[in-house]
This record gives sequence, C-alpha cells and structure tokens, in this order.
Amino acid sequence: MARRILVTSALPYVNGHIHIGHMVEYLQTDMFVRFLRMQGHEVAYICADDVHGTATMIAARNRGVPESAIIAEMGAAHEKDFADFGIRFDHYGSTDSPSNRESVYAIWSALRAGGHVATREVTQLFDPKAGTFLADRFVKGTCPKCGAPDQYGDSCDKCASTFSPTELKDAVSTLSGAKPELKSAQHYFVTLEHFRGFLEQWVTGGGHLHPDMAKWVKNTFLRDGEPLRDWDVSRPAPYFGFEIPDAPGHYFYVWLDAPVGYVASTRDWCAKTGQDWTSWWQGGKAEIHHVIGKDIAYFHTLFWPANLQAVGWNLPTKVHIHGFLTVNGEKMSKSKGTFVRARTYLDHLDPQWLRYYYAAKLNGTAEDLDMNLGEFEAKVNADLIGKVVNLASRTARFVPKLADAYPDDGGLFARAAADGPAIAEAFERLDTAAAMRLIMAAADRANEFVERAAPWALKKDPAKAEELARACTVSLNLFRQLCVYLAPVLPNFAAEAGRLLGAPITTWADAQRPVVGNAIAPYQNLMGRVDPAKVQAMVDASKVGEPAPAAAAAVAPVAAPAAVEPLAATIAFDDFAKVDLRVAQVLSAEEVPKAKKIVKLRVSLGALGERTIFAGIKAAFPDVAVLVGRRIVVVANLAPRQMSFGVSEGMVIAAGEAPNAFLLTPDQGAEPGQRLH
Ligand code: MSP
Ligand code: ZN
Repeated sequence: MARRILVTSALPYVNGHIHIGHMVEYLQTDMFVRFLRMQGHEVAYICADDVHGTATMIAARNRGVPESAIIAEMGAAHEKDFADFGIRFDHYGSTDSPSNRESVYAIWSALRAGGHVATREVTQLFDPKAGTFLADRFVKGTCPKCGAPDQYGDSCDKCASTFSPTELKDAVSTLSGAKPELKSAQHYFVTLEHFRGFLEQWVTGGGHLHPDMAKWVKNTFLRDGEPLRDWDVSRPAPYFGFEIPDAPGHYFYVWLDAPVGYVASTRDWCAKTGQDWTSWWQGGKAEIHHVIGKDIAYFHTLFWPANLQAVGWNLPTKVHIHGFLTVNGEKMSKSKGTFVRARTYLDHLDPQWLRYYYAAKLNGTAEDLDMNLGEFEAKVNADLIGKVVNLASRTARFVPKLADAYPDDGGLFARAAADGPAIAEAFERLDTAAAMRLIMAAADRANEFVERAAPWALKKDPAKAEELARACTVSLNLFRQLCVYLAPVLPNFAAEAGRLLGAPITTWADAQRPVVGNAIAPYQNLMGRVDPAKVQAMVDASKVGEPAPAAAAAVAPVAAPAAVEPLAATIAFDDFAKVDLRVAQVLSAEEVPKAKKIVKLRVSLGALGERTIFAGIKAAFPDVAVLVGRRIVVVANLAPRQMSFGVSEGMVIAAGEAPNAFLLTPDQGAEPGQRLH
C-alpha cells in the first residue's frame, strides 16, 4: 500500500560550506527518498538552511552586510552543492521565513498556555566592546586545569577537561579581543521535566529510534531519579533570530526555531504546490522521518518531540541517526587536506563514486564511518567498474538487439529478482551496506556467467551468432537488474542503463521482468575509474594554512629510514666549482604521456632565460600542478640530453629518489637565476 512519507535531513548551518562529512547525511537521505519513490510511495523531501544565531550576526557585522545577504549567498551555494551531488529536495527553505516565525509562535503559545515556561536570571560572559553575550565558542583563554593556552570556553583539547567559560583564565572574547565581563539577564526556560513521562514512552516504545539509540538516549538523558534540566530557549538582545512576542528584547535561541524549520519549509512547499500543510503535520496518515547525525540526537529526541507534543502536531515516526565521518581513520583535518568541501570534491571527482562508497559503508546505525581514500578508490573501481559496468561494456557492442525471448540463464535472473524484497528491506532501514552486499553478490554471479559464456569468443565464430545473442541478452538483463537496485544510489547511471536497453528504470518492480526484443543503443562508457592522482589533487586542494612549498607534503611518506649512501671520493674545490647550481622557479609542470615516471618542467632562471627539464619525480608528485610556482635548485650547466620525449636542459636537485624524493627549496628571498656557492 502506498504510504505518504515526509523525509527531512538536518538543516545545515548557514555559516559554513557543505563538506564531505555533511554528505554522509544528505546522500543517505536522498537514497532513502529515491528508494521510497521507486516503491510507489508519495514522498516529500524537505530541508532548509539553519540561519539564526550569534555566528550569523557577527559574520554580517564583520562584512558590513545585512544577515539576509549572507543567507542568500550561502543558501545558493548549499543548494548548488547538493544539486551537483544529485540530491533532489522538494523544497529547500530558510529558518528566517514568515512561515517559521508563525510556526514558532504557535509552539510558544502552546508552551505558555500549558504552563511549561519559567524565567530565571542567568549570568554569562559579556563582551563590552561587541555589546553581546558570548557563547562558549566565542571565548578563549587558558585551561583552568592544565594551563594550556588558547582553549575554547567549554573544554580543553589538551587535557580534555570540560568547564564553564567563567572558569577560563585570561579569558578574551574572540569577537573583539576584549576582556569579558560577567553580566546577568533574564532567560526563558522550557520545563522539560513536565514532558518526562511522554518522552520516556516516546523514546523507548513505538520503534521511533534504532533500539541501540533508544537505549543510549534513555541512559544518557532520561536517567531514573534525575529530573530533566530546564531548557534555556532565549537570548537577550542583540541576537539574530525571532523576537519573543511576549518578551520584547528577548529572542528565541536558534535551537528552538531550527527544527520548526522542518514544518515551515513544508508549509512553503505546500503553498507553492497548492497543498494543505496540515495534511503532513496534523492528523492524517503521513509518516515523518528525520535523518540526523548523533551530535544533534539530544535536540531531536527530547526537545523537538516535547515541542510537537505541546502544540499537538504530529510526532516523528522515526528519527534515523547516523555516525560521524572520519577520513583515513582520523577526524577530518584542514592541515592534512581531509576536510574536503563538497565543491572541492566535485572539482576533482565524480559524485556517483561518493554516493556508492557511502552506500556501501552506511549500515543504519550511529557507528562512525571511515572514508579510507585508498579503499574508496579500490572499492569503487572493483565493484562499480569491475563488476557492474563490466557486464555491459563486454557485451553491449556485440549484438544490435536483445533476443526476443529471455533465454535459460540457469535461474540467475530469477534468483536476483527474489532478492528484491531483502534489498528493499535493507534500504528501508537505511542499511545500504547490506543492500550493496546483496547487489554485489548478484553481480558476482552474473560475472561468472559471462566468463563461462565468453561472448568475446562466440563473436569470432559466425556459426555461434545465436548463442552470442543469448549470452548478451542474459548479461545485459542481469546488468539492468542490478541497475534497478542501484538506482536510488546511482540515479544517473541507472538512467543511462535504461537508455542503453530502451527500457527506462522507474520502479522497483523493474527488476522482476527481463527486457526482450529491444534494440541496444550505441554503447558509451557508463562510468570512469577513480584515478588516485585526482584523489590526491583533491586532498592537496583542501590543504589550508600552509605555505606554498609545503605542497611537497604530497611526497609519499618514507616507509623506513633510507640506508645511508656511502660518501663519494674527496674532490678539490675546483671540481665543485665546475657544477653551476642555480635557483629556478617552476613555470609549468606537465605529465609526459609516454613516460610515467617523468615530469616535464618549464623553469625560469631569471636573466638566464627559461629551460625545459625532464625530471624523474612523478611518483613523488602524483598531482604535478603542486609544483607550479615553487622555487627549486637545478644544475644549470649540464650538457643538454636528448631523451625520447624531448631535450632536457638541466637537472633538478632532490634528496632521495621518487617516490620518496624531496625537492630543495631556498629560503625566502632567493631569486631565480641566483647561483649556489
Ligand atoms: N543546524 C544544525 C541542525 C539543525 S536541524 C533542525 C546542524 N547543522 S550542521 O551543519 O552542523 O550539521 C548538519 C548535519 O550534518 C547534522 O545532522 C550533522 O550531524 C551532520 N554532519 C556534520 N558533520 C558531519 C560529519 N563529519 N560526519 C557525519 N555527519 C556530519 O547541526
Ligand atoms: Zn587543559
């Protein structure tokens, strides 16, 4: 039976660009949505930018523009990043919208009317220069426990202790550098304890959370005998947000209005499409699914259900909670180039690869997920190119059309068709890893068939034309069947597969019937291989905060200390003086197609002119572009050497040999053409 399902991803903060950590969430939500649509359900995929709060106010102040300018600019960048990864929202709004204000007011009135609001004085650090109260991350100072300097107001990254910003020693405001003062103001609180009974029931019953998460929320936030702390939902002016209607000068804290943005964005979408938003959020039979990261589970499993309960709107059917992305086993790092923006990824790599890789790793639990860049390359190439594309690329060119009757394939198509419900069940739980395993097992069986049938051999024997047609019909149908199951993950790829066989892939049931008799369209390569040099280029492009020469960090790490080369025979000074070493600046660096180890450099020797040098350092610089602009040292009076790919007019000085070659860089100030003495 068709269901009505509203699906959301968390609303990203307007204050930063989307990165590959975020993509863990938005990609899995998009796959879930596409899967549900293929099942024939009515689905709305709703999101928005989360724009309120001090950070936006300060950013606008610093740039001398209104907040609306930042919201428009970042919103557009976010939407473009998502679209280019194939994420298709039905509506992407902003929390600073009239519909959100109205929805927040409705919740607030309900909280007030229910007697769930209390007021109290709160003493906080205040920046007298910037004229604003300071959130923990806007205060820095010395750790009160271990004395480490330059720590944020809530915790120390040296000794891992946590504290209140008022305990920090030598505190300064990161906004203005001023010394913060203590100042108190009235705050508004929601008495969460009033909702305790309801929350316990909602968290532990009804299957709203994965059982592990339900346990975790219960044991962490709803411990027996410990009352729930009141939730501070207001901030005094100045603050960028909605002013509290019955408390002028006070604003709703960003986390009060952010989840309400789910409702507001639905309202805006409904207004645009002529629907009644209450059919999604009040009564009716619509399901509501939130997909979020574990860091914001607290807000979505306590505050948000409490607010919905207070106002009487529909509660989430399910909150799907995922873990955090690490890269190469570590937290994403700007200096290591693993804090990769969505846009930087797109500049270098195919978004479908990340869609597949994440699908293969995500298992519907809140476990962290590691993106190992070597595994990323190997897995995409082995599974997508080696197992799936392979089925089409080896057979699509051999025959003009599919056979008119589906041949006996030893039960392969039927077996994979019978896997449909199990694959669907895994998608429904967001356990795409299990789904991908079933799909790849079917791909393995299909490849065994092709190996045995050997269409490339049949092709050579005109007497075997019919056998060839049968083998290709089976192979292409098994290929298409995999593409149906992969369509939520790889929508563009599935569309191409549909075109190839003149049979568009639209529903899950497309995997149940083979296609016969159709003409086969001219085959074009369906997907490229992951090139490790491009992965490296993406990492290099993501490195920040290092001077240009540090791009040499691209050099592969030394596995073991190199054996020391024995000292050469003693020479006279005159012998040394014969070697003319010069500072050179790299003008361009190119790969040499016929020589994998060589880089072609064009260097400037200042007044001495330019030279072309072929250097055997490619293995140390997979992305040769990082060499451009660097100042290096070359032997300038070496006799020109004819090589098969051109004449080399000098030699680059490096320590060690590729892949562990280290170029020498002179101190700042050395000019191209200067001689080394
Ligand atoms: N604005 C809040 C959410 C409000 S929802 C009403 C927020 N924004 S965020 O931009 O920081 O994060 C958006 C989503 O991306 C969150 O669900 C968060 O868990 C997820 N991720 C952000 N960084 C992530 C990783 N490194 N790894 C996996 N998910 C991550 O939180
Ligand atoms: Zn410390």
